[in-house]
Amino acid sequence: MTTTPHLALHTLREGHGLPVLLVHGFPLDHRMWEDAAAALPSGITVLAVDLPGLGESPLGGEPPSIEAAADAVVDAARAAGIERAVVVGMSMGGYVALAAAERHADFVVALGLVDTKSTADDDAARANRLRIADAVSESRTVDAVLGMPGALLGATSKVARRGLTARLEEWIRSQRPDGVAWAQRAMAARPDRTQVLARFAGPVAVVVGEEDTLTPIEAAEHLVAAAPGATLVVVPAAGHMSAVEDAPAVANAIGDLWAVARD
Ligand code: MLT
Repeated sequence: MTTTPHLALHTLREGHGLPVLLVHGFPLDHRMWEDAAAALPSGITVLAVDLPGLGESPLGGEPPSIEAAADAVVDAARAAGIERAVVVGMSMGGYVALAAAERHADFVVALGLVDTKSTADDDAARANRLRIADAVSESRTVDAVLGMPGALLGATSKVARRGLTARLEEWIRSQRPDGVAWAQRAMAARPDRTQVLARFAGPVAVVVGEEDTLTPIEAAEHLVAAAPGATLVVVPAAGHMSAVEDAPAVANAIGDLWAVARD
């Protein structure tokens, strides 16, 4: 396995004390967290990473894996002088956050799991990811994932927050095809990490958009059932992109997690 050079780590808010480290979903980058970071209480240091091959980060090594992505996130933070953090991941970012909790328990003080799940793919989902990865690699375009905003946004946002579809499309269009393919292959290879939650010693906050159809409320309830003492926040009128669709609600949940972790 080759390692990933340092990932891009963006400071979204300057603060002090225990930092919050935000990990984005697929096929996006740190920009999806800008609104939530702005809505967090002042005084908290808020960082957001770009996962391998996405945003401003270099492509990951081979073979693609969520474990390599998690190691690279923690390496980037440590290189920036951060030894512990509240790690918050959205969807694919949640897979990475869980892998980080498993592999770097000393680094992950608290876990925020936003519109994500701990289970692995079934055979059909895995095959679909590999098909998309091949299509993106062969065409050298992100065309195969350009339609994703339709699935990412909740029913309410598609009607009431019309600008969001274009915003998501712009973020997706700006990604590197090889980075999109790497991420799909990494997600296809990931194991079930439900047991990581049972062993995790720190506080856990689970957040889900009420209208999330990709990782629905049942997936969030599965996370909560696995993690002793975890809290569940259901964001009304939001889908899989609750962190963008209702950034203040998600920021509120992250702020509460940070306050518990800091004590
Ligand atoms: C995401 O939002 O990161 C994706 O829905 C994750 C996935 O494809 O499993």
